[in-house]
Amino acid sequence: MSGLSAAALQAIRADFPALHQEVNGKPLVYLDNGATTQKPRAVIDALVRYYEHDNSNVHRGAHTLSDRATEQFENARQTVQRFINAARAEEIIWTRGTTESINLIAASWGRTHLQAGDRILVTGMEHHANIVPWQVLCEQTGAVLQPIPVKENGELDMAAYAELLTPEVKLVSVVHVSNALGTINPVADIIRLAHDNGARVMIDGAQSVAHWDIDVQALDADFFAFSGHKLFGPTGIGVLYGKAGLLQDLPPYQTGGEMIEHVSFEKTTFNGLPYRFEAGTPNIAGAIGLAAAIDYLKAQDRVLLAAHEDALMARFAQRAEEFGDLRIIGEAAHKASVCSFLLQGAHPADVGTLLDQQGIAVRTGHHCAMPVLAQFGVPGTVRASFTFYNTLEEVDALFKGLEKARMFLL
Ligand code: ALA
Repeated sequence: MSGLSAAALQAIRADFPALHQEVNGKPLVYLDNGATTQKPRAVIDALVRYYEHDNSNVHRGAHTLSDRATEQFENARQTVQRFINAARAEEIIWTRGTTESINLIAASWGRTHLQAGDRILVTGMEHHANIVPWQVLCEQTGAVLQPIPVKENGELDMAAYAELLTPEVKLVSVVHVSNALGTINPVADIIRLAHDNGARVMIDGAQSVAHWDIDVQALDADFFAFSGHKLFGPTGIGVLYGKAGLLQDLPPYQTGGEMIEHVSFEKTTFNGLPYRFEAGTPNIAGAIGLAAAIDYLKAQDRVLLAAHEDALMARFAQRAEEFGDLRIIGEAAHKASVCSFLLQGAHPADVGTLLDQQGIAVRTGHHCAMPVLAQFGVPGTVRASFTFYNTLEEVDALFKGLEKARMFLL
Protein backbone atom coordinates (compact mmCIF):
# COMPACT_ATOMS: atom_id res chain seq x y z
CA MET A 1 0.00 0.00 0.00
CA SER A 2 1.48 3.31 -1.07
CA GLY A 3 -0.50 5.23 1.56
CA LEU A 4 -1.23 8.05 -0.90
CA SER A 5 -3.62 7.91 -3.82
CA ALA A 6 -2.21 8.86 -7.21
CA ALA A 7 -4.36 12.01 -7.17
CA ALA A 8 -3.18 13.00 -3.68
CA LEU A 9 0.44 12.49 -4.71
CA GLN A 10 -0.01 14.59 -7.85
CA ALA A 11 -1.64 17.34 -5.76
CA ILE A 12 1.33 17.32 -3.38
CA ARG A 13 3.81 17.41 -6.26
CA ALA A 14 1.97 20.39 -7.71
CA ASP A 15 2.85 22.28 -4.51
CA PHE A 16 6.61 22.01 -5.24
CA PRO A 17 7.56 24.16 -8.25
CA ALA A 18 11.16 22.97 -8.53
CA LEU A 19 10.06 19.39 -9.20
CA HIS A 20 8.54 20.40 -12.52
CA GLN A 21 11.53 20.98 -14.75
CA GLU A 22 13.77 19.17 -17.15
CA VAL A 23 17.41 18.55 -16.28
CA ASN A 24 19.74 17.58 -19.11
CA GLY A 25 16.71 17.20 -21.34
CA LYS A 26 14.97 14.72 -19.01
CA PRO A 27 12.24 15.22 -16.40
CA LEU A 28 13.90 15.88 -13.06
CA VAL A 29 13.89 12.93 -10.66
CA TYR A 30 14.96 14.50 -7.39
CA LEU A 31 16.33 11.83 -5.03
CA ASP A 32 18.66 13.97 -2.93
CA ASN A 33 16.25 14.88 -0.15
CA GLY A 34 18.72 13.86 2.55
CA ALA A 35 20.95 16.72 1.39
CA THR A 36 18.12 19.21 1.11
CA THR A 37 14.42 19.12 0.32
CA GLN A 38 12.55 21.15 -2.28
CA LYS A 39 10.26 23.91 -1.00
CA PRO A 40 6.50 24.07 -1.33
CA ARG A 41 4.92 27.17 -2.86
CA ALA A 42 3.63 28.09 0.62
CA VAL A 43 7.20 28.53 1.87
CA ILE A 44 8.31 30.51 -1.17
CA ASP A 45 5.23 32.74 -0.85
CA ALA A 46 5.86 33.31 2.86
CA LEU A 47 9.41 34.49 2.10
CA VAL A 48 8.25 36.80 -0.71
CA ARG A 49 5.41 38.18 1.44
CA TYR A 50 7.78 38.90 4.30
CA TYR A 51 10.32 40.68 2.11
CA GLU A 52 7.68 42.54 0.10
CA HIS A 53 5.59 43.73 3.06
CA ASP A 54 7.07 43.21 6.50
CA ASN A 55 10.85 43.31 6.19
CA SER A 56 12.25 44.92 9.31
CA ASN A 57 14.47 44.08 12.25
CA VAL A 58 12.98 42.31 15.26
CA HIS A 59 12.73 43.32 18.93
CA ARG A 60 14.16 46.77 18.18
CA GLY A 61 12.13 49.25 16.22
CA ALA A 62 9.36 51.42 17.57
CA HIS A 63 7.49 51.12 14.31
CA THR A 64 4.82 49.03 12.68
CA LEU A 65 6.97 46.96 10.35
CA SER A 66 9.27 45.97 13.20
CA ASP A 67 6.24 44.97 15.26
CA ARG A 68 4.94 42.85 12.40
CA ALA A 69 8.29 41.18 11.83
CA THR A 70 8.70 40.54 15.56
CA GLU A 71 5.24 39.03 15.84
CA GLN A 72 5.80 36.67 12.92
CA PHE A 73 9.27 35.75 14.14
CA GLU A 74 8.03 34.88 17.64
CA ASN A 75 4.95 33.10 16.25
CA ALA A 76 7.36 30.98 14.22
CA ARG A 77 9.14 30.00 17.44
CA GLN A 78 5.81 28.89 18.87
CA THR A 79 5.06 26.93 15.71
CA VAL A 80 8.31 25.02 16.20
CA GLN A 81 7.55 24.58 19.90
CA ARG A 82 4.21 22.95 19.10
CA PHE A 83 5.71 20.95 16.24
CA ILE A 84 8.19 19.13 18.50
CA ASN A 85 6.03 19.46 21.62
CA ALA A 86 8.52 21.48 23.65
CA ALA A 87 7.15 22.62 26.99
CA ARG A 88 8.04 26.30 26.47
CA ALA A 89 8.75 28.60 23.52
CA GLU A 90 11.99 29.82 25.09
CA GLU A 91 13.34 26.28 24.79
CA ILE A 92 13.51 26.88 21.03
CA ILE A 93 16.77 28.56 20.03
CA TRP A 94 17.20 29.70 16.42
CA THR A 95 20.47 28.62 14.87
CA ARG A 96 21.82 28.32 11.33
CA GLY A 97 21.16 24.59 11.33
CA THR A 98 21.92 21.29 13.03
CA THR A 99 25.66 21.88 12.85
CA GLU A 100 25.47 25.18 14.71
CA SER A 101 23.04 23.70 17.26
CA ILE A 102 25.54 20.96 18.12
CA ASN A 103 28.42 23.44 18.22
CA LEU A 104 26.41 25.63 20.59
CA ILE A 105 25.93 22.80 23.08
CA ALA A 106 29.55 21.67 22.74
CA ALA A 107 30.84 25.19 23.36
CA SER A 108 28.41 26.25 26.07
CA TRP A 109 27.25 23.15 27.94
CA GLY A 110 30.38 21.17 27.14
CA ARG A 111 32.93 23.67 28.36
CA THR A 112 31.06 24.25 31.61
CA HIS A 113 30.13 20.66 32.41
CA LEU A 114 33.00 18.50 31.22
CA GLN A 115 36.45 17.96 32.62
CA ALA A 116 39.41 15.66 32.13
CA GLY A 117 38.44 12.03 32.44
CA ASP A 118 34.79 12.55 31.49
CA ARG A 119 33.45 10.69 28.47
CA ILE A 120 31.20 11.55 25.56
CA LEU A 121 29.55 8.77 23.59
CA VAL A 122 28.49 9.16 19.97
CA THR A 123 27.60 6.39 17.54
CA GLY A 124 29.97 5.05 14.93
CA MET A 125 27.54 6.26 12.26
CA GLU A 126 27.59 9.98 13.01
CA HIS A 127 27.74 12.82 10.52
CA HIS A 128 30.94 14.81 10.96
CA ALA A 129 28.83 17.56 12.58
CA ASN A 130 28.24 15.22 15.51
CA ILE A 131 31.87 14.15 15.79
CA VAL A 132 34.16 17.12 15.23
CA PRO A 133 32.61 19.57 17.76
CA TRP A 134 33.04 16.92 20.47
CA GLN A 135 36.61 16.16 19.38
CA VAL A 136 37.50 19.84 19.69
CA LEU A 137 35.75 19.98 23.07
CA CYS A 138 37.73 16.94 24.21
CA GLU A 139 40.97 18.65 23.22
CA GLN A 140 39.94 21.67 25.28
CA THR A 141 38.71 19.80 28.36
CA GLY A 142 40.61 16.52 28.46
CA ALA A 143 37.38 14.57 28.08
CA VAL A 144 37.36 11.46 25.89
CA LEU A 145 35.14 10.76 22.87
CA GLN A 146 34.07 7.17 22.29
CA PRO A 147 32.03 5.73 19.43
CA ILE A 148 29.32 3.16 20.13
CA PRO A 149 29.98 0.33 17.64
CA VAL A 150 27.79 -0.20 14.61
CA LYS A 151 26.94 -3.78 13.60
CA GLU A 152 27.52 -5.15 10.12
CA ASN A 153 23.91 -4.61 9.14
CA GLY A 154 24.16 -0.92 10.07
CA GLU A 155 22.30 -1.16 13.39
CA LEU A 156 23.69 0.26 16.57
CA ASP A 157 25.17 -2.32 18.94
CA MET A 158 22.95 -1.63 21.95
CA ALA A 159 24.68 -4.28 24.09
CA ALA A 160 28.00 -2.49 23.53
CA TYR A 161 26.28 0.81 24.33
CA ALA A 162 25.08 -0.52 27.69
CA GLU A 163 28.64 -1.61 28.49
CA LEU A 164 30.13 1.73 27.49
CA LEU A 165 27.74 3.59 29.81
CA THR A 166 30.09 3.96 32.77
CA PRO A 167 29.75 6.71 35.40
CA GLU A 168 32.36 8.77 33.49
CA VAL A 169 29.92 9.22 30.59
CA LYS A 170 28.41 12.70 30.93
CA LEU A 171 26.93 13.10 27.46
CA VAL A 172 25.53 10.82 24.77
CA SER A 173 25.05 12.53 21.40
CA VAL A 174 23.31 10.37 18.84
CA VAL A 175 22.02 10.68 15.33
CA HIS A 176 18.32 9.83 15.09
CA VAL A 177 18.48 8.66 11.45
CA SER A 178 21.84 8.04 9.80
CA ASN A 179 22.27 10.14 6.66
CA ALA A 180 24.70 7.56 5.25
CA LEU A 181 22.93 4.30 6.12
CA GLY A 182 19.31 5.25 6.76
CA THR A 183 19.35 3.43 10.11
CA ILE A 184 16.70 4.64 12.57
CA ASN A 185 18.33 4.53 15.98
CA PRO A 186 16.24 3.57 19.04
CA VAL A 187 16.64 6.98 20.62
CA ALA A 188 13.99 6.50 23.32
CA ASP A 189 15.94 3.50 24.69
CA ILE A 190 19.24 5.32 24.24
CA ILE A 191 17.94 8.29 26.24
CA ARG A 192 16.44 6.16 29.00
CA LEU A 193 19.65 4.21 29.51
CA ALA A 194 21.76 7.38 29.47
CA HIS A 195 19.51 9.06 32.02
CA ASP A 196 19.65 5.99 34.28
CA ASN A 197 23.41 6.50 34.12
CA GLY A 198 23.16 10.22 34.93
CA ALA A 199 24.23 11.38 31.44
CA ARG A 200 22.64 14.05 29.26
CA VAL A 201 21.52 13.27 25.72
CA MET A 202 21.65 15.28 22.53
CA ILE A 203 19.75 14.01 19.48
CA ASP A 204 20.75 15.00 15.94
CA GLY A 205 17.34 15.05 14.28
CA ALA A 206 18.50 16.44 10.92
CA GLN A 207 17.30 13.38 9.01
CA SER A 208 14.31 12.41 11.17
CA VAL A 209 12.07 15.48 11.50
CA ALA A 210 11.06 15.34 7.83
CA HIS A 211 9.66 11.83 8.21
CA TRP A 212 7.57 11.68 11.35
CA ASP A 213 6.37 13.78 14.29
CA ILE A 214 8.88 14.36 17.06
CA ASP A 215 7.85 14.76 20.67
CA VAL A 216 10.85 15.94 22.66
CA GLN A 217 9.00 15.60 25.97
CA ALA A 218 7.89 12.02 25.29
CA LEU A 219 11.47 11.19 24.25
CA ASP A 220 12.80 13.09 27.26
CA ALA A 221 15.64 14.43 25.06
CA ASP A 222 17.81 16.98 26.81
CA PHE A 223 18.86 18.62 23.53
CA PHE A 224 17.46 18.10 20.04
CA ALA A 225 18.80 19.70 16.84
CA PHE A 226 17.45 20.00 13.31
CA SER A 227 17.76 22.09 10.14
CA GLY A 228 15.00 23.96 8.33
CA HIS A 229 16.17 23.13 4.82
CA LYS A 230 15.79 19.37 5.27
CA LEU A 231 12.23 20.03 6.46
CA PHE A 232 11.03 21.82 3.30
CA GLY A 233 12.02 25.20 4.77
CA PRO A 234 14.78 27.68 3.83
CA THR A 235 18.50 27.15 4.22
CA GLY A 236 20.36 29.01 6.97
CA ILE A 237 17.77 28.43 9.68
CA GLY A 238 17.78 25.66 12.24
CA VAL A 239 16.67 24.83 15.72
CA LEU A 240 18.26 23.88 18.97
CA TYR A 241 15.78 22.57 21.52
CA GLY A 242 17.03 22.33 25.07
CA LYS A 243 15.26 21.77 28.36
CA ALA A 244 14.88 25.19 29.97
CA GLY A 245 16.37 23.90 33.22
CA LEU A 246 19.56 22.99 31.36
CA LEU A 247 19.78 26.02 29.08
CA GLN A 248 19.09 28.78 31.54
CA ASP A 249 22.37 28.59 33.44
CA LEU A 250 24.57 28.12 30.39
CA PRO A 251 26.99 30.82 29.23
CA PRO A 252 26.42 32.41 25.81
CA TYR A 253 27.79 30.79 22.69
CA GLN A 254 28.27 34.00 20.73
CA THR A 255 28.16 37.53 22.06
CA GLY A 256 27.00 40.88 20.70
CA GLY A 257 23.67 42.60 20.29
CA GLU A 258 20.32 41.04 21.25
CA MET A 259 21.86 38.61 23.75
CA ILE A 260 22.60 41.21 26.43
CA GLU A 261 20.58 42.64 29.29
CA HIS A 262 22.90 45.56 30.07
CA VAL A 263 26.30 46.60 28.73
CA SER A 264 28.86 48.93 30.25
CA PHE A 265 32.64 48.95 29.92
CA GLU A 266 32.82 47.66 33.46
CA LYS A 267 30.42 44.73 33.09
CA THR A 268 27.89 43.14 30.76
CA THR A 269 24.95 41.10 31.92
CA PHE A 270 23.21 38.65 29.62
CA ASN A 271 19.65 38.29 28.44
CA GLY A 272 17.45 35.35 29.42
CA LEU A 273 16.23 32.50 27.24
CA PRO A 274 16.07 32.21 24.30
CA TYR A 275 17.81 35.48 23.36
CA ARG A 276 21.01 34.82 25.27
CA PHE A 277 21.85 32.33 22.52
CA GLU A 278 20.77 34.51 19.59
CA ALA A 279 23.47 37.17 19.21
CA GLY A 280 23.05 39.56 16.28
CA THR A 281 20.18 40.00 13.84
CA PRO A 282 18.61 36.58 13.40
CA ASN A 283 17.48 34.91 10.19
CA ILE A 284 14.00 36.41 10.44
CA ALA A 285 12.80 35.36 6.99
CA GLY A 286 14.24 31.90 7.56
CA ALA A 287 12.27 31.43 10.77
CA ILE A 288 9.07 32.61 9.08
CA GLY A 289 9.74 30.33 6.11
CA LEU A 290 10.38 27.37 8.40
CA ALA A 291 7.09 28.00 10.19
CA ALA A 292 5.35 28.01 6.80
CA ALA A 293 6.97 24.65 6.01
CA ILE A 294 5.75 23.23 9.32
CA ASP A 295 2.24 24.59 8.69
CA TYR A 296 2.34 22.91 5.28
CA LEU A 297 3.36 19.58 6.81
CA LYS A 298 0.79 19.83 9.60
CA ALA A 299 -1.94 20.23 6.98
CA GLN A 300 -0.99 16.81 5.56
CA ASP A 301 -1.73 13.40 7.01
CA ARG A 302 1.82 12.58 8.07
CA VAL A 303 0.95 8.94 8.75
CA LEU A 304 -0.08 8.57 5.10
CA LEU A 305 3.07 10.37 3.97
CA ALA A 306 5.22 8.00 6.05
CA ALA A 307 3.39 4.98 4.60
CA HIS A 308 4.11 6.31 1.13
CA GLU A 309 7.82 6.68 1.99
CA ASP A 310 7.82 3.08 3.24
CA ALA A 311 6.35 2.03 -0.11
CA LEU A 312 9.17 3.87 -1.91
CA MET A 313 11.74 2.05 0.23
CA ALA A 314 10.04 -1.29 -0.46
CA ARG A 315 10.05 -0.59 -4.20
CA PHE A 316 13.75 0.26 -4.00
CA ALA A 317 14.50 -3.01 -2.17
CA GLN A 318 12.50 -5.04 -4.70
CA ARG A 319 14.13 -3.37 -7.71
CA ALA A 320 17.61 -3.69 -6.17
CA GLU A 321 17.12 -7.42 -5.76
CA GLU A 322 15.97 -7.81 -9.37
CA PHE A 323 18.84 -5.64 -10.61
CA GLY A 324 21.71 -7.50 -8.88
CA ASP A 325 25.21 -5.96 -8.97
CA LEU A 326 24.35 -3.56 -6.14
CA ARG A 327 25.99 -3.64 -2.74
CA ILE A 328 23.63 -2.05 -0.25
CA ILE A 329 25.41 -0.23 2.57
CA GLY A 330 23.19 -0.24 5.64
CA GLU A 331 20.58 -2.97 6.00
CA ALA A 332 19.06 -2.17 9.37
CA ALA A 333 15.57 -3.53 10.03
CA HIS A 334 14.34 0.02 10.63
CA LYS A 335 15.42 2.50 7.96
CA ALA A 336 14.10 5.86 6.87
CA SER A 337 14.17 6.97 3.26
CA VAL A 338 17.91 6.66 2.69
CA CYS A 339 19.29 4.01 0.32
CA SER A 340 23.08 3.94 0.11
CA PHE A 341 24.65 1.57 -2.37
CA LEU A 342 27.50 0.79 -4.74
CA LEU A 343 27.19 -0.39 -8.29
CA GLN A 344 29.77 -3.15 -8.04
CA GLY A 345 32.86 -2.31 -10.08
CA ALA A 346 31.91 1.33 -10.71
CA HIS A 347 33.01 4.47 -8.91
CA PRO A 348 30.08 6.22 -7.15
CA ALA A 349 31.00 9.58 -8.72
CA ASP A 350 30.79 8.08 -12.23
CA VAL A 351 27.40 6.56 -11.43
CA GLY A 352 26.20 9.91 -10.10
CA THR A 353 27.33 11.70 -13.26
CA LEU A 354 25.60 9.22 -15.52
CA LEU A 355 22.41 9.45 -13.46
CA ASP A 356 22.54 13.25 -13.62
CA GLN A 357 22.77 13.05 -17.40
CA GLN A 358 19.41 11.28 -17.21
CA GLY A 359 17.91 13.95 -14.96
CA ILE A 360 18.27 11.88 -11.78
CA ALA A 361 19.71 13.73 -8.77
CA VAL A 362 21.44 11.61 -6.11
CA ARG A 363 24.32 12.32 -3.78
CA THR A 364 27.61 10.47 -4.11
CA GLY A 365 30.67 10.43 -1.87
CA HIS A 366 31.26 10.06 1.84
CA HIS A 367 28.12 11.96 2.92
CA CYS A 368 30.14 13.71 5.67
CA ALA A 369 30.23 10.39 7.51
CA MET A 370 33.72 9.08 6.75
CA PRO A 371 34.13 6.87 9.84
CA VAL A 372 31.11 4.68 9.13
CA LEU A 373 32.01 4.32 5.46
CA ALA A 374 35.54 3.35 6.50
CA GLN A 375 33.99 0.66 8.69
CA PHE A 376 32.25 -0.72 5.60
CA GLY A 377 35.54 -0.49 3.70
CA VAL A 378 34.27 1.97 1.10
CA PRO A 379 35.31 5.59 0.46
CA GLY A 380 31.82 6.56 -0.69
CA THR A 381 28.46 5.40 -1.94
CA VAL A 382 25.66 6.45 -4.24
CA ARG A 383 22.79 7.66 -2.07
CA ALA A 384 19.17 7.94 -3.11
CA SER A 385 17.13 9.69 -0.41
CA PHE A 386 13.36 9.83 -0.75
CA THR A 387 10.60 11.96 0.60
CA PHE A 388 6.83 11.98 0.31
CA TYR A 389 6.70 13.81 -3.05
CA ASN A 390 8.68 11.08 -4.79
CA THR A 391 6.80 8.52 -6.85
CA LEU A 392 7.18 4.80 -7.37
CA GLU A 393 7.84 5.62 -11.03
CA GLU A 394 10.81 7.72 -9.94
CA VAL A 395 12.27 4.70 -8.15
CA ASP A 396 11.82 2.78 -11.41
CA ALA A 397 13.50 5.65 -13.28
CA LEU A 398 16.47 5.36 -10.92
CA PHE A 399 16.87 1.71 -11.85
CA LYS A 400 16.49 2.49 -15.53
CA GLY A 401 19.29 5.01 -15.05
CA LEU A 402 21.38 2.45 -13.20
CA GLU A 403 20.85 0.00 -16.04
CA LYS A 404 22.33 2.55 -18.44
CA ALA A 405 25.20 3.22 -16.04
CA ARG A 406 25.86 -0.52 -15.82
CA MET A 407 25.95 -0.84 -19.61
CA PHE A 408 28.28 2.13 -19.90
CA LEU A 409 30.62 1.47 -16.99
CA LEU A 410 30.88 -2.32 -16.61
N1 ALA B 1 24.07 16.24 5.73
C1 ALA B 1 23.49 16.38 4.44
C2 ALA B 1 23.51 15.09 3.66
O1 ALA B 1 23.52 14.05 4.22
C3 ALA B 1 24.04 17.51 3.67
O2 ALA B 1 23.52 15.13 2.46
